Amino acid sequence: MAKLPVVMPLHVLSHPLGAHVLTHLRDKTTKPALFRTLSYQISLLLALEATRDLATHEKAIETPMEPTVGRVLAKPLVVVPILRAGLGMLQPFHDVFPDVSVGYVGLERDHHTAVARSYYCKLPPLAGARVIVVDPMLATGGSAAQAVTVVKAAGGTEVVFVCIVASPEGVAVMAAAHPEVAVYTGALDRALNARKYILPGLGDFGDRLYGT
Ligand code: PRP
Ligand code: URA
Repeated sequence: MAKLPVVMPLHVLSHPLGAHVLTHLRDKTTKPALFRTLSYQISLLLALEATRDLATHEKAIETPMEPTVGRVLAKPLVVVPILRAGLGMLQPFHDVFPDVSVGYVGLERDHHTAVARSYYCKLPPLAGARVIVVDPMLATGGSAAQAVTVVKAAGGTEVVFVCIVASPEGVAVMAAAHPEVAVYTGALDRALNARKYILPGLGDFGDRLYGT
């Protein structure tokens, strides 16, 4: 039987608060302190979307009133922010999933070629876990595709990618490199400019987050 091509699932956030927060993130007059708060808020919404399908299993407990059966998460959760801008998306995952483990992949785009260079990697055990790779900007897709490759090489089998703004080019690169990896984004923007920045985008996320 012919093998059907796997089409990468793309989830674009559809929530009035998400649209509101994103507009203020895009606004060039937004200062780093507010930018960090807005990053937290939209990442929280995205964290909930990207975990909507997490497996659960039954657990018998006793309330103060009587025995009952509830449900708890069936698998460990690992979040992997791509340094440095991905750190701006980490806290909401900690807040919603206190038992989450965290790994780090350090990648930096060359200012001229826009090709990402790896400078750091530290990952917890990934076998059997849902691994959520986070990076606010999916531009050429080079950083995200490289990070997911690293995560898979380290044993990650159930991987999703979460970003705040994606370009069509970045989505296409992810679909080609990792067709089974679902992408969750706050927005799908129009295009990349000649310097490989997203349009309309929000500029350099790391610089705006850290005031550099
Ligand atoms: C930015 C962003 C992504 C990458 C996206 O990081 O946070 O990691 O660019 O671009 P791509 O899809 O074309 O690879 P940058 O390399 O500027 O580093 P930073 O996070 O340290 O600011
Ligand atoms: N990295 C960013 O921070 N912004 C872009 O638009 C592209 C890459």
